[in-house]
Parts: sequence; structure tokens; C-alpha cells
Amino acid sequence: MKVFINKMIPEIGIKMLEEERVQIIVPENENLSREEWLKYCQNADVILNVGGDFKYDKTFFETCPNIKAIALYSVGFDHVDIKEASQRNIPIGNTPDVLSRATSDVAFLLMQSVARRASYNFQKVKDGNWNTFDPLHALGQELYGKTLGIFGLGRIGFEMAEKAQKAFDMKIIYHNRNHNVQAEKELGATYVSFDELIENSDVLSIHANFIPEHANLFNYSVFQKMKPNSIFINTARGGFHHQQDLYKALVEKKIWGAGLDVTNPEPMSADDPILELSSVCVLPHIGSATIEGRNGMARLAAENLIAFLNGEKMPHCANPEVYSDHS
Ligand code: DGY
Repeated sequence: MKVFINKMIPEIGIKMLEEERVQIIVPENENLSREEWLKYCQNADVILNVGGDFKYDKTFFETCPNIKAIALYSVGFDHVDIKEASQRNIPIGNTPDVLSRATSDVAFLLMQSVARRASYNFQKVKDGNWNTFDPLHALGQELYGKTLGIFGLGRIGFEMAEKAQKAFDMKIIYHNRNHNVQAEKELGATYVSFDELIENSDVLSIHANFIPEHANLFNYSVFQKMKPNSIFINTARGGFHHQQDLYKALVEKKIWGAGLDVTNPEPMSADDPILELSSVCVLPHIGSATIEGRNGMARLAAENLIAFLNGEKMPHCANPEVYSDHS
């Protein structure tokens, strides 16, 4: 079996695969064009996919009919047409749980960085503008007892809510497809409608899986309804927010600040005026970028592929329906 890995992953995953005596193909130059990437895929049996640069859509599956399984090095699978994969009986593995702590840490970090204008102040120091003490300049806000609204309260959202509650005694409200009984029981989280979420959150943090129906869900008309002191945090997918509308809402002070680990588009332009604002902090999609998180992802991706190679169900599968006929 030929396993194509488009970018090198932590050693733990490679070692696990090597023990299976598969042929591992990693390109020397990892910055592949779509054409180059497709050629590698056409020569492989299974893929371990790193990143969201390439889409696994209908055209892909038609162009690469040999592909039998895909193990994603991510929890998100918005770059895969799951229905198309399932129709072709191709299991799609993902890496849940192992990055929940790391990603929620980044949401928590952004919340505080924005609340205290950390990026802006750090830039001032770097620019040599550390001026004398000013009682009125660039004041932040405190988070104690405020309301954290979570859009999509799954594993990562739960971790974020728990941290915010422990650190700042924040009240948790959430909007989700389903009720999260554990969060309601353990954190006293309250299920609210989407409108109630945007109108009542002091901090609104997105932790949902991205689906095309949610493209630009957070746009000007939504930001307009949010509280003027509110902080918008997105560590999920840039597609959730309309970035020009976010800028407009910030400039017009409809909302107070924004912390983004994902942008729209991604990567964003260094000239984007949003970067000039003092209550904005942007990180380059580093949610899972810890040694622990990335090793965990490598292990889970390898486990998924090894299970497939041994004719077993992938333990972490985004389309378990592929197994329903055989179980
Ligand atoms: C994920 O795992 O989905 C992260 O966003 C990295 O792509």
C-alpha cells in the first residue's frame, strides 16, 4: 500500500506507519501546486492529509479513483465532500479530542489578549513607543462575571467555557444543534436561541464545525445586534465571519474587539486594515500547535490508517455511515 503524506507530521505517527511496512511517500518540496498534489494522489492508495489547502470534492474523487481511504491530520473536515466520499465507500478519519485543550487555550488567550489590547501594546514596545504612564490611554476591560456565549458547544467549546468559568466566573450561554447536557449540568450553561446568543454575550466564541450554510453567518447585521462592549473570538474556521463587515463593526464600535486564529480569507493579507485596530489580535491558525496536540493528531491519524489497512473500522471517522452495511 502506498501512503501519500503531503507534509511531514511528528515522528510518532511516521514510526507507527513504518511498523506496518507501508510505502510512505512525502514530497521533498511540501509546497505543492494542485497539479503536483493530484499526481501524488493518483499514485497512492491512501492519503494522510495535512492542512486545508486542497479540496476533496467530486472532481478529486473522479480524478483519483484509486484512493481507498483518507486520514485527515485535523479534527475539521470541511475541506472534504463527505457525501461524495461516503457514496464511494471511502472512510475519512479525523483527529478529535487531542487538540481540544490546545485550541481552547488559544480561544482563551485571544479573549484576554483582546480584552487587554495585548497585541497593540506589544507593538508599541517594539516600535519604541513606550510612553509615560497615561491613565486614559488604550484601556482594556475585565472579564469577571461577564457572559461568555459559545456558538457550537462541543469538546473544544466545553474546554473554553470551563476555563472561562474557573478563571473569571463567567456565565455560560450557548447555541448548538443539540443541548449539551454535560455543560448544562457541570457548568450551569444555558441553551439560548441564536439571537439571544448574539444579543447577550460579552464574549462570543465560535467552536462549531464549519458547514457551507454557515458561510459569513457573522456579518454586519449580526455584529450590529451584539453588545458594544462585546469581544468576538473565532478559532474555528474563517468562513464563519465576513471579515470586511467585522472591520466595519469594529470601526463603528458596534462591537469592542476581535480575536481571530482563523481569518477570511486564510492566510489574510498583511495589509488588511483590521490589523491596525488596537482591540484586535490575529494569530495564524495555531490552535492545535502544541507538541502535545500535534503528537496526538499524528497518533490518531496513524491509528485511523492502520485500522483501515487491517480491514478494521477507523476509530475516529467523520463518515461512520461507510461501515453501516458491514457491521
Ligand atoms: C483542525 O484540526 O481542524 C485544525 O483547525 C487544524 O486544521
